[in-house]
Amino acid sequence: MMASCALFHVDPGLPERRSSLSCFVILLVAPGLLLPMPSDACDPPQYNSMRPTVVKSSYNPGENVQFQCRPGYKRIIPLLPVSSVCYPNNTWTPLQEACTKKSCQHPGDPVNGHMVSVNGSFLFGSQVHYACNEGYRLFGSKVIYCELSSIDDNTMTWSDNPPLCSRILCLPPPKITNGKYTNSGKEEYEYNEVVTYSCDQSSGPDAYSLIGESRLVCTGNGEWSGNPPQCKVVRCPHPEPANGRLTSGFGGKYSYKATVVFTCSEGYYYNGTNIAVCGSNGTWEPAAPMCYKESKPPLMTTTPGSSHPDSDHPGAPTTTAPPPEDANTLGKGIIAVIVIVVLAGIVFLCCILVIFYRHKKKGKTEVSASYSTYQDKSTSPSESTQ
Ligand SMILES: *[C@@H]1O[C@H](CO)[C@@H](O)[C@H](O)[C@H]1NC(C)=O
Ligand SMILES: *[C@@H]1O[C@H](CO)[C@@H](O)[C@H](O)[C@H]1NC(C)=O
Ligand SMILES: *[C@@H]1O[C@H](CO)[C@@H](O)[C@H](O)[C@H]1NC(C)=O
Ligand SMILES: *[C@@H]1O[C@H](CO)[C@@H](O)[C@H](O)[C@H]1NC(C)=O
Repeated sequence: MMASCALFHVDPGLPERRSSLSCFVILLVAPGLLLPMPSDACDPPQYNSMRPTVVKSSYNPGENVQFQCRPGYKRIIPLLPVSSVCYPNNTWTPLQEACTKKSCQHPGDPVNGHMVSVNGSFLFGSQVHYACNEGYRLFGSKVIYCELSSIDDNTMTWSDNPPLCSRILCLPPPKITNGKYTNSGKEEYEYNEVVTYSCDQSSGPDAYSLIGESRLVCTGNGEWSGNPPQCKVVRCPHPEPANGRLTSGFGGKYSYKATVVFTCSEGYYYNGTNIAVCGSNGTWEPAAPMCYKESKPPLMTTTPGSSHPDSDHPGAPTTTAPPPEDANTLGKGIIAVIVIVVLAGIVFLCCILVIFYRHKKKGKTEVSASYSTYQDKSTSPSESTQ
């Protein structure tokens, strides 16, 4: 410890606070480095289950330490030794953990629910989970822990009382104007109980339409599965597509969810769909039947020659797609150019190599030729001497 601190004091420019901070960091980060260093005093060993009976800041060799169980622990039977002495070499007589965790009492199963022991025991620190049977709702803590009593260190207790499981009940669902629901007149409804709404007979010429879900269920939260429906008269205007005609759904009245299908005259097109449904607001959805002139169709790209000659069912003109083909040929062209350039490069390189080698060979033959002529010259005189 001293060595590592001294290291950081070497630099005189370093502020004192910074170097001490570095010492602290070293102590935190690398405690393993400090272990082999001999300790100056008898620091008693640490145990999970026990602690010294008397807390002293330092001990001297020859001194004795008496251990006791930590809170939440009790002695193991047969009793193990719990006292240790410090040797002159500053080590202590080794001890075994002599204490074991205390246990809480069985917390009990709730009525209409059950308990799950997470740790398989009710020992100090263990936890227990609770769940209620179907149709029952849990009130209280879902998880409780075995812990020390807040009153004294000797008593074990659960962190909370076991929860209660109460029957799930829903209050009566809302009443609606111009309608009613089945099973009405009760003060409370059971879990999974269903009510079904229906609309009253209308006194006027148009019947009420039920808008929304007719069936509601009492759910696990004690709430109904959704909002109640509405009962009201819904009438959509007579659909008269300009430059087109209806092919189905000719009716005197168009009430909620009435559907019409239409076609457009030659040279006219519908926008997206040729089906319209009467919506809850008395408007056609997605839009009232409508045909648009071919020359400036909304949000549609027409290509010349793609219009249908038989315009009995002239849907949105199918656009043949030449642009991707263009892109394709363009891509092919680029690839071809690259291939040609690469091939040309290879041929060029080959030519250079061939020329280079030929040149080299020529040089060599010239050298050998001159050598042989030299030899001829040198041998010829010796031959002549012989
Ligand atoms: C310290 O001394 C005791 C008793 O003399 C011995 O048993 C123990 O091995 C020693 N420990 C070390 C780390 O030298
Ligand atoms: C109990 O089990 C939980 C979940 O496995 C675990 O996180 C917890 O540490 C255990 N407690 C004890 C005291 O064993
Ligand atoms: C055509 O339909 C689209 C949605 O499908 C819509 O956004 C657009 O406003 C419509 N155009 C016209 C002219 O109604
Ligand atoms: C009906 O009209 C109301 C208010 O004008 C609007 O908020 C609602 O979105 C409409 N519903 C439909 C299905 O068009």
